Amino acid sequence: MTLEQEQEATSILGVVGAGTMGSGIAQVAAQSGYNVVLIDTDEEMLDRGLARITSDVDSLVEKERLSAENRDEILSRIEGATTLERLDPCELVIEAVTEDREIKAGVFKEISESVDPETIIASNTSSLSITELAHCVPNPERVVGMHFFNPVTRMKLVEVVAGRATSEETIAVAIATAMQMGKTPVVVGDSPGFVANRLMIPMINEAIFSLNEGVASCDDIDQIMQLGAGYPMGPLALADLIGLDVCLSIMEALHHGFGDDKYRPAPLLRQMVAGGQLGRKSGSGFYEYQV
Ligand SMILES: NC(=O)c1ccc[n+]([C@@H]2O[C@H](COP(=O)([O-])OP(=O)(O)OC[C@H]3O[C@@H](n4cnc5c(N)ncnc54)[C@H](O)[C@@H]3O)[C@@H](O)[C@H]2O)c1
Repeated sequence: MTLEQEQEATSILGVVGAGTMGSGIAQVAAQSGYNVVLIDTDEEMLDRGLARITSDVDSLVEKERLSAENRDEILSRIEGATTLERLDPCELVIEAVTEDREIKAGVFKEISESVDPETIIASNTSSLSITELAHCVPNPERVVGMHFFNPVTRMKLVEVVAGRATSEETIAVAIATAMQMGKTPVVVGDSPGFVANRLMIPMINEAIFSLNEGVASCDDIDQIMQLGAGYPMGPLALADLIGLDVCLSIMEALHHGFGDDKYRPAPLLRQMVAGGQLGRKSGSGFYEYQV
C-alpha cells in the first residue's frame, strides 16, 4: 500500500476517551484533516474534552497561527458521542480511556463489537500489554499500540507498539497515521512501560521518594533536574502534568510486569492518589493549579 492509499483507508478516525489524551489526539487528528468521532461514556467528561479542544484552537486563532475559517473547519470535523456504536464508520479507532486493565479490556471488547472485523484498534496505553489487549478481540493482528505523549499538540513522539500478533500491515497504518498527524513514530516491542515510561516514570517515582525522605523540597528537586540534567520541566511538575493516577498505574504495571521490587510505587504517590490529589487535572498535586 502507498502512503496515500493507507491514508484513504483511515480517513475516519475514532477516539475513545475524551480526557487529557483523547481530546488532544482528537484535536491533532482533526487539525491533520481526519474526520473524528470522539467518544466518552461520561457526558461531562465529553463536554470538558470538547471544550478543551475549542479553547485550544481558539487560542491558535488569537495567536494568528490559524484563521477563524480553519478553526471552524477543524471543529466541524469532530463529532462527540457517548455510545460506542457511533464508531461504526471508523477504519481506525484509538482507545484512550483510563489506565486500568479491566476497563480497557471491556472497552476493547465493546469497540470490536461496534466496528468491522478489519478495523484497526490502537491503544494509547502507557504501560499495559498490547498482546493482552489484543487477546480481548477477534482478529488480534489488527491491534497495535499508538502511544502519544502529553501534551499531544506539542509532543512529537508516538511509540508504535507491536504486540505478538500485530501484523505488518497494521504497523504500517499506525506509522502512516502518526506521520499524517505530524508525529514521529518509533516502533518498539511490547514490554511493560515500552521505552519512554520504563525510563521516565521510575525517575518520577524516585523524585517522590526523595521528597518524602526530606532530601530536598519539591521546587529544589525540580530545579536540580532542570538545571543539572537539562530537563524542560522537573519530575514533580511533570508528574502533575501526566496525572498522579496515571503515574501510579504505570508504576504498578512495571512492578507487576517485571515482578521486581525496584519498581514499587512510592507510598506518598499512593497516598496522594487516594486523597484525590491527581495533579493539574484535579487542581492539586505537588503544586496547586486553577481548574
Ligand atoms: N496523561 C498522560 O500524560 C498520558 C500520556 C500518554 C498516555 N496516556 C494514556 O492515555 C490513556 C488516557 O489517559 P488520560 O490521562 O487521558 O486519562 P483521563 O483520566 O484524563 O481520561 C480518561 C477518560 O476515559 C474515559 N472513560 C473511562 N471509561 C470509559 C469507557 N468505558 N468508555 C469511554 N470512555 C471511558 C473517562 O471518562 C475519561 O474521560 C491512559 O491509558 C494513559 O495511560 C496518558
